Amino acid sequence: MLPVVVVHGGAGTVPRERTEQSCAGVKEAARAGYDILQKGGSAIDAVTEAVTLMENNPTYNAGRGSVLNVKGEVEMDALVMDGKTLASGAVSAVRKVANPIQLARLVMEKTKHLCLTAEGASKFARDMGVPEVTEESLITDYAKMRWKKNLEPEANPVESQMGKMGTVGAVAVDKEGNIACATSTGGMINKMEGRVGDTPCVGCGGYADNKIGAVSSTGHGEAIMKVILCRLILFHMEQGKSPQEASDLALAYMKERVEGLGGVVVVDPKGTWAARFSSLQMAWAAVQQDQLHYGLYHGEDFIESVQEQTQ
Ligand code: GLY
Repeated sequence: MLPVVVVHGGAGTVPRERTEQSCAGVKEAARAGYDILQKGGSAIDAVTEAVTLMENNPTYNAGRGSVLNVKGEVEMDALVMDGKTLASGAVSAVRKVANPIQLARLVMEKTKHLCLTAEGASKFARDMGVPEVTEESLITDYAKMRWKKNLEPEANPVESQMGKMGTVGAVAVDKEGNIACATSTGGMINKMEGRVGDTPCVGCGGYADNKIGAVSSTGHGEAIMKVILCRLILFHMEQGKSPQEASDLALAYMKERVEGLGGVVVVDPKGTWAARFSSLQMAWAAVQQDQLHYGLYHGEDFIESVQEQTQ
């Protein structure tokens, strides 16, 4: 069944006017990841490329399009993990980089550490020659509008977060059977300055292990951290559950135990995949054997040939 790539564009409720672009963006990202795998590229390259494309797409809460913190600023988190070696790299509360996922990859490849944060991450980016971008280039009118709305006294940022859009992520298995995950986010809308969410935390925002599978998550970060969602799913898979069964069990547990909603994309070493969520919607896409699957609502699995153009 190998290879496969599965991506998500965030759990929540996608506003009607953004549903088409949300689906188009995940399809584009999944196609790009699959193209790398088809040419013999690695799972880690495929997930990095897929997430980079979604960070560049202002539709999603990652890179350009990130939600703003309470001060109206962009602070982003990202994680990448290689299932062959369990190496991982992450950045948290990083500012003024276009692609936090690529900086996370540099942390994995060029340092002895797993995560760099805030100003230390920015200094590392400069040392690595990663261009600094302006804060304005990352901020969309939509993000600004939502930030202002959530400053109002009656606002509920957690509900607002789940109600609009989320984190992006990808998992893949390559032709060699190597597995990887990548996840990137602007975090929680109107979060405190310096808040670090689930995304850069190994086992929470993602996990990849060639022996079990890989998961990338989206949803309410604090809830995901309380149940260590991605590693919990892989635990269920170690006990013999399929990616779909394991995801449903863990998402139901998170809902019941800490009232958290979210979504995941999952693969196992054979290339069996799942895209599951407890929120109302999650834009997702998967490519395997030249077929592109995608959906937005529960129960949807539209299929088209991978060669067909995204509208
Ligand atoms: N899951 C993204 C966040 O809460 O930061």
